[in-house]
Amino acid sequence: MCGIIGYAGNKNAANVVISGLKRLEYRGYDSAGIAQVSATAGQPLLLVKAAGKVAELEGQLGKQLDNPTDQQASGLAIGHTRWATHGEPTTENAHPHLSQDGNFAIAHNGIIENYLTLRSKLTQKGYEFISETDSEVIAHLIQDVYEGDLQAAVMTTLGQLEGTYGLIVVSSLHPDTLIAARNGSPVVIGIGQGETLIASDISALISHTKRVVYLDDGDVVTVSKDSFDITSLKNVPVSRDATEIDWNVEEIEKGGFDHFMLKEIYEQPTALTNSLRGRLDLKGATAKLSGMQLGPSDLAHIDRITIAACGTSMYAGMVGKYLFEDFASIPTDVVQAAEFRDRNPIMQRDSMMLAISQSGETADTLAAVREGVRKGATILGLCNVVGSTIARETGRGVYLHAGPEISVASTKAFTCQVAVLAMMSVLLGRTHRMSAESANRVISELTRLPELAQAVIDQEDKIAKIAEKYAHIEHAFFIGRGYLFPAVMEGALKLKEISYVHAEGYHAAELKHGPIALLTKDIPVIVAVPESSGKAKTIANMQECRARKAPVLAIATAGDTDIHAHSDDIIEIPRCEEFVAPIPVVIAEQLFAYHMARLRGCEIDQPRNLAKSVTVE
Ligand code: AGP
Ligand code: GLU
Repeated sequence: MCGIIGYAGNKNAANVVISGLKRLEYRGYDSAGIAQVSATAGQPLLLVKAAGKVAELEGQLGKQLDNPTDQQASGLAIGHTRWATHGEPTTENAHPHLSQDGNFAIAHNGIIENYLTLRSKLTQKGYEFISETDSEVIAHLIQDVYEGDLQAAVMTTLGQLEGTYGLIVVSSLHPDTLIAARNGSPVVIGIGQGETLIASDISALISHTKRVVYLDDGDVVTVSKDSFDITSLKNVPVSRDATEIDWNVEEIEKGGFDHFMLKEIYEQPTALTNSLRGRLDLKGATAKLSGMQLGPSDLAHIDRITIAACGTSMYAGMVGKYLFEDFASIPTDVVQAAEFRDRNPIMQRDSMMLAISQSGETADTLAAVREGVRKGATILGLCNVVGSTIARETGRGVYLHAGPEISVASTKAFTCQVAVLAMMSVLLGRTHRMSAESANRVISELTRLPELAQAVIDQEDKIAKIAEKYAHIEHAFFIGRGYLFPAVMEGALKLKEISYVHAEGYHAAELKHGPIALLTKDIPVIVAVPESSGKAKTIANMQECRARKAPVLAIATAGDTDIHAHSDDIIEIPRCEEFVAPIPVVIAEQLFAYHMARLRGCEIDQPRNLAKSVTVE
């Protein structure tokens, strides 16, 4: 959710932390703060916090650093960019939080569930709270139990916390040491030359080092510029392997685009090529997904699939359901991940659970995975971020290879998720009833995906023009049927999250069962109606909308003249098989949402109230 970063090294720690926070800003961006340790033990910590973006904090910090007393600042600092859970995004509630004596500073990602009990105990002891956050208790608790050993004080404090944390602690009394701990919120160590970093994800680290170590839940790490020691909460040494990251700095920069979202939309042909690379086997009429670690006889036994995911990943999962049922004849359920955990789901011996998550850190999806593990299910992860918690906890699965997705609005992850699900459906299909001929028909269509994506992207100017006509609207409906039903759910999500237009996705047949009551000339209906088995019926639904004076924007197959008489505007996608149509349709919706948001003056990459990686349940 939020981003945390800590630095111990020879560089100017404040600069490193600020640039790291900018990289992490997509995780949470309502307020930010930094605590820097003086090189001399006992000198006060420099604490600067600001409501709003990291740029605001940077401005405040610049002013503070003009103060000569701060010139002894060491190469040790921590920072935080917040996505508020407890208390509004104000300067007081921004992290880091200080202990009452000012000796300890903490930055926290997650939720401390028993904070009210801890807060009242600390208040009785005379501690005064300046924020409304759940996190501030941590700083006071450390002060309360500190007896000269920072690591011991942190360990004792962690023993009293219930909830989730990715935590970093510094102290003015220990100018060379950073302590971090993980329980439910990601923490990764970056191992540099004469510097060690801690962050909630690798994007903050890769301009310094590509060598990283992921912490597991229950790990505590004590860091100096040249070393780090990981232990368990009981202070037993723990060894974790280092990994080399293969993302590079250019991939996490905008590269000339105005927004990450547009860059990531444009990256889709390449991302799809990377997702498909080496995985399609025309000769064997199957797909090769070795990360699944399931041989033909394991796959042949799978007779039910449950997909757990949230948001865009869940809509990709809905496309996956149709693919698995059509090509592998395996009944598939798609469950909102939190609901999977809450509802005590039935997992039978030959059921397979598939957790889909771009970030691999979504708390609801992770909770579903853990529930699946408890039920003994065969669990696979479908993640983009290599080494992410869901990828590691599922232990097997398929990576998207879509490259880093920074914009809060997910784009290339969706199209690559659908591509991977289609490959999985071929692999499973071939161990069930799919013929080699049908498999090869699917495979050849999949090889066209990059070109299909490019053909839609090439129409950006036309889509931008259409958006001009609709930019003033406050409500919209999206309708489609079959494979296009999940595609319109995703279209509505994209539009609402970045342009703040109230948008609802419905099955095309469902509109007349209620929502049609809302239609007026000011509420357009965006209809996914490319060549497909349901096209004629969807055209009838378009007529029903127009009869209520609602403007109709159709997303249709290029050259399909049938549509002209039934729509006010048309975005064309190339001719393709129905099962891949969600990919070009969703790309058209992404560009439409992007231009709507741009024309409405919205903050596209960092929409209000959202965060990229939702690590709270
Ligand atoms: C997508 O645009 C959203 N911001 C959001 O719905 C997202 O897809 C969801 O939070 C799931 O994220 P994940 O794929 O990283 O698990
Ligand atoms: N629960 C903490 C707060 O509201 C941390 C939120 C976060 O992860 O950004 O301040």
